[in-house]
Formats: sequence, structure tokens, C-alpha cells
Amino acid sequence: KDEEGIKELNKAVAQVHATLVLKSVEDLDISSESKKKVIKSLIQKAKEEAIKEEKEKIAIQIAQKVKNGETIGFGSGSTSYLAVKEISKRIKKENIDILAIPTSHEIKMLCSELEIPTTTIMENKPDWCFDGADEVNDTNWLIKGRGAAMFREKLNIANSPVTYILADKTKFVKKLGEEAYIPIECYPEAINSVKEELLDLGATEIKLRTAVKKDGPLITENNNFILDTKFEEIYETLEKDIKEITGVIESGLFIGYNFVIIS
Ligand code: A5P
Repeated sequence: KDEEGIKELNKAVAQVHATLVLKSVEDLDISSESKKKVIKSLIQKAKEEAIKEEKEKIAIQIAQKVKNGETIGFGSGSTSYLAVKEISKRIKKENIDILAIPTSHEIKMLCSELEIPTTTIMENKPDWCFDGADEVNDTNWLIKGRGAAMFREKLNIANSPVTYILADKTKFVKKLGEEAYIPIECYPEAINSVKEELLDLGATEIKLRTAVKKDGPLITENNNFILDTKFEEIYETLEKDIKEITGVIESGLFIGYNFVIIS
């Protein structure tokens, strides 16, 4: 019943467990170099597990906000994926009716699998929406679009009175864009002129996102290309400046939005 006590106990159990695992690796009949590699990959796995657990807790929190009769914008990415699964559990358990506006094929297929009815932004506006992020700074400016879904994500966000951003602790950064690239979706035939104008705007790196298991460029859900870019400085009007380029559909920069961060 003592929550603090349980936390301490769990920590102690985890420590004993880690010591036992290290001991068994030590006892393995392999070179010390290989032992180091095994330990490194175990640590990496443990970190990934911890992040997944954090994402699952965030998913439960957002599912609690769902009310009967609402239209909800569903973001994309691994955290949103977990959130949709949690929402589905509540829908089934409590017999809740909602409409979802999904932002990618992946999330639309998940809705279909979980029997969550969907609509589009053309027919309905969301009462609220949720989404993940790649990076969040201390003024809630974001970089999104690792999954190339930022155009429809921005459509939902722009049409929604409230947006919850689901961000585990790995997403919070001091300087936006130091690690993550800013993705820019552009019309395929405009690729060269868009690149030139991005360079004029101060882009220091521009690379075409290529597909996995298909030669050449990744094609977005809207039949466009993605340019992953770096800028020396991400300033207040950069999102608008990028958007002004003819041929740019949307960027993964979100500056000055009124987000509620769930972490
Ligand atoms: C999808 O294109 C993205 O904008 C995601 O929302 C973002 O990359 C966060 O994804 P994870 O929840 O997988 O970190």
C-alpha cells in the first residue's frame, strides 16, 4: 500500500536483476570485447524498454480524455499508435462512440483493425487532437515528421481547438534541430527550385529522403517527396518562410502553436 516503498522495492529488485545479468555475462566463455558488446546491447535494450513504458503511460493518460460523441484527430508515430490502442480499449469497455481523423495510412489501418470509425477533415472538424513529436524545446516549438506524416498532422492541428503533444523525456531538447532534421514535403517536380530557395533561406544541409525497400525517393501519402533539412538557426518566422516557397506543401516545423504537452 505504500507507494514509495513499492518504488524502492522495484528499484532494488531491478538492481539485483541487473547484477545477476552482468554476472552471467561475466561467466560467458567469450572474449572481453564480445562481453562489452553484449552488455552494450543489453543496456540499449533496457533503455528502449524504459522509453516504451513511458510512452505506454502517456498513451493511458490521453485515452482518459476521450468523451462519448467526440471527433478526435489521431496523430501518427509510435506514441500515437499506442494511444490509439488505449483509446480502443476504453471504447470497447465503456461503449463509447467517437469518430477519428487519422493522419496516415498506418493509423487509418489501425483504426480499421480496431473498428474505430473514421472521417476526414473535409467532413468534420476535430474537438481535439493528439500527436507525437521528434523534438520539443522550452517554448513548445516542435519538429515533427520522422514518419513523413506532418502535412496531415498540421491540418488536424490547425483545425483543432486543443492539441495534446505526447512527448517522452527523450523528446525535450535545449536547441531545436541540433539532432533532428526538419522535414519539408514538396511537390516532386519543384524539387530543384525548392532546394535553391531553401539554400537562400539559410539551409546548411538538404537531403532527399529515400525509401526503404524501393529505389529512389520516399513517396508520401500525398504523392510528394521529402527533403530533410538543417538550418543554422531556427528563428520565429522560419516555418512561414519555408511555407512561402512555391512547391513546398508543408514542413515539420511547428512554431508558436498553443500545445498542451503530455509527458
Ligand atoms: C510522424 O510523421 C511524426 O510527426 C511523429 O508524430 C513523430 O515523429 C513522433 O513519433 P514517435 O511517437 O514515434 O516518436
